[in-house]
Amino acid sequence: MNGFYIAFAPLQGYTDSVYRRAHCIHAGGVTEYYTPFIHLEGGSPRRKDMRDIAADECKGVPTVPQVIAKDRDEFAQLCDAVEEKGWKRLDLNMGCPFPMQTKSGRGSGLTQHPDRLKGIVREMGHRSEMTFSVKMRLGQENADEGLEAIRIINDIPLTHVVLHPRLGRQMYKGMVDMEAFERLCNACQHPIVYNGDITDTEEIERWRLRGGNIKGVMIGRGLLAQPWMLGGGEPTEVLRLMHDEVYHHATLNLCGESQILSRLHAFWEYIAIGHKEHKAVMKATTLRRYDEAVAKALARGN
Ligand SMILES: Cc1cc2nc3c(=O)[nH]c(=O)nc-3n(C[C@H](O)[C@H](O)[C@H](O)COP(=O)(O)O)c2cc1C
Repeated sequence: MNGFYIAFAPLQGYTDSVYRRAHCIHAGGVTEYYTPFIHLEGGSPRRKDMRDIAADECKGVPTVPQVIAKDRDEFAQLCDAVEEKGWKRLDLNMGCPFPMQTKSGRGSGLTQHPDRLKGIVREMGHRSEMTFSVKMRLGQENADEGLEAIRIINDIPLTHVVLHPRLGRQMYKGMVDMEAFERLCNACQHPIVYNGDITDTEEIERWRLRGGNIKGVMIGRGLLAQPWMLGGGEPTEVLRLMHDEVYHHATLNLCGESQILSRLHAFWEYIAIGHKEHKAVMKATTLRRYDEAVAKALARGN
């Protein structure tokens, strides 16, 4: 898309390093892949999250590690951990709407704590060796929260702000508020990456043509449904190649059929194929049945 920035959104439970690599190699068309958020567990960065950003896991895949934090201390600790793995780029999650995060002032909940956000921004300012972006919603309860957050993050250099036009309390459903999106967009001095409900290339093109401070788009569920959407490869072939990678990794690294099937079912959960084929794949409770169902799904194409 001629230099227009296209990001694969972070999706916890779906876009792990294996999936991102499979997509990058076999589907393509994405400028950067964001990792699901890295967080602290019992005071230290979760080991599984850290493995997901290990250099050899991400080799050849343009990756942006993302962290979620409630204040400057947590943010600094996560920055250190990410830097130790060799990264100089980091995205701050200010959009996660899940109550477990928002109630403690993380994700979209952080927009309700401007003083803590100011602390995080000061920490970013101290780390001139790193480049940062912020992924956010309009706010948690109302768009004034998001507006204040934008004014705070205007003070530091950022590569861009990813903006999703819903409030935290709406989760992933309900109407998008494009009026509030425009207000925040106009107040923001950083380039904006639009995120929300993009399902086809025509919509990407509309955002590209809009120009102004729109630098690009970030796509999540739309790409999980049609991983082939941007690269121009034949859909069934792209799916087969990506599935082979995820399957190979799962059978080699996970223990027991149920763990393996759970990872493989996540691969198919959003995929846009025929209803009957999809149901057979998702219903399979043994690997043998699963293999049969996948063979049928891929033989029929999309
Ligand atoms: C299952 C699931 C997991 C998600 N995990 C993350 C995450 O780790 N970090 C984040 O910033 N956003 C996360 N998101 C939000 C997505 O990145 C994206 O903003 C959202 O799905 C809207 O974009 P879309 O309509 O293109 O899917 C998640 C969304 C879903 C549905």
